[in-house]
Amino acid sequence: MLSTVARRVGRPAATRALSSLPPVPTDYEWDAFRTKAHQTIDFIVDYQKKLAARELPVLPSCQPGDVRRALPAAPSETPVEWSSILADVERVVVPNMTHWQHPDFMAYFPAQAAPSAMLGELMANAMNQPGFNWICSPAATEMELHVMDWLREAFALPETMAWSGTGGGIMQPSATEGMIVAQVSARTRKLARHPHIKLNDLVSYYSDQSHFCVEKASKVVGVQHLRKIPSVYDPSTGNYAMDLGVLEATIQADIANGLAPFFVSGNFGATGVCAIDDIEAMATIAATHDLWLNMDAAYAGVVALLPEYRGMLGGMHVCDSLLMNGSKWFHLMFNSSFFFFKDKTHIVPALNATGAYLENKHTAENNVFDLKDYQLGLGRPFRGLKAYCTIQSMGLQGFRDGLRRHVALAKYLAARLRSQDRIEVLRDIFGLVCFRVKGATDDVNMAVMEKLNDVEGIHMVHTVTADHGVVLRIALCHPQLTEEDMDRVVAKLLRCLPDADVAAVA
Ligand SMILES: Cc1ncc(COP(=O)(O)O)c(C=O)c1O
Repeated sequence: MLSTVARRVGRPAATRALSSLPPVPTDYEWDAFRTKAHQTIDFIVDYQKKLAARELPVLPSCQPGDVRRALPAAPSETPVEWSSILADVERVVVPNMTHWQHPDFMAYFPAQAAPSAMLGELMANAMNQPGFNWICSPAATEMELHVMDWLREAFALPETMAWSGTGGGIMQPSATEGMIVAQVSARTRKLARHPHIKLNDLVSYYSDQSHFCVEKASKVVGVQHLRKIPSVYDPSTGNYAMDLGVLEATIQADIANGLAPFFVSGNFGATGVCAIDDIEAMATIAATHDLWLNMDAAYAGVVALLPEYRGMLGGMHVCDSLLMNGSKWFHLMFNSSFFFFKDKTHIVPALNATGAYLENKHTAENNVFDLKDYQLGLGRPFRGLKAYCTIQSMGLQGFRDGLRRHVALAKYLAARLRSQDRIEVLRDIFGLVCFRVKGATDDVNMAVMEKLNDVEGIHMVHTVTADHGVVLRIALCHPQLTEEDMDRVVAKLLRCLPDADVAAVA
């Protein structure tokens, strides 16, 4: 029976239930959002300024479990004031973080985050485009293709890696996921060319300097045979390049044993001491034995933006796929690992799968690129907008300046360290300086590094090489570093040496 009201306006009875609908969450009040967003931006700017002024230590002093103990035991049933949430961030998050954006953060490699990237990401998140095929978000798809074509040209990569060529470039969530895509595509190509090959017989090759993402990707892809090829130390440069004689001999032995070599990954700037392989020579071996050649340039590949480094980067022209992280030394924050590839016809068959709900005339007519076919997942964030905002806001010259500033400062730091008789500089390249305390044991070197971290507040990590054991490394990360910052590092290091004359180096 219709209620009086429903009868009066002539609505069906079912509409009556709408009067008892739960309210729309208050979070969707956009004027309130404006106020909260302003408060949040204020918080971000204040936080960044505190870091730049070194008002916070780079490393936290918390113990495992402290953060969880400081958080409410249960979530709130009702909306909490935004100011109170920000207060939680100030109280619980800020003091318990390793501050990657701190000027004394010199560990691993940079994780640069330009202000314009933050704003681009904010807008991209606000639009929240799943972007898996062209029709579900034309702007997200085409902006990413366009930006990647810009970058291809700016990095002087081969035209085959342009979307108008045989290949293309997209942003993967991480280099590791790009590495998985490379290996899945390599496997597909190998099996298409040699249908008799058994999956269990595939072999992948990488160097003892390679990032473990090569190994991880091989495991994900189900590769049973992984060959870690030794690298050779070059005392004149401190480089550790893959021993290509051993690579060739290992491939031949594997073939003789009935196995199927399919993938090799070369380095342009591996994580330890920034090892660089002879990728052009590797390409000859790869071509002879029909291996997919990948180049891991996650940190250092971005120097391709600088004409003075292009001579070192011939490998970019011969590899089948190339990984460069926009998230490291390129200001774009996470979720922006550039993956360039030479041939779509090996990528798409490896990753294409679809459902009836994705059918549309553009895909059917094959006049669009559906980016789901070039990655592992389906949905993907609007990465192109973040990249577009950052590239336009900084200008390519801004990126070049940032790289050259670090290169110049790293050279200055290395020269200052070389002038100390107790320090041996083993390698300085791009924005990385690797060194040891001369004549000291590994334990002494580790103790010096721990003191730099714990007492002097410089966050750095070590690596281990075959020829030198423990090697200390300073990676320049913060975009606003100065000569004075390099001088501080030297003074702090000297204070940490065993038997340092503290008064003399204070
Ligand atoms: C040389 C190199 N390759 C690959 C990776 C893996 O990067 P991602 O965290 O994007 O997977 C790293 C990370 O530090 C790296 O330094």
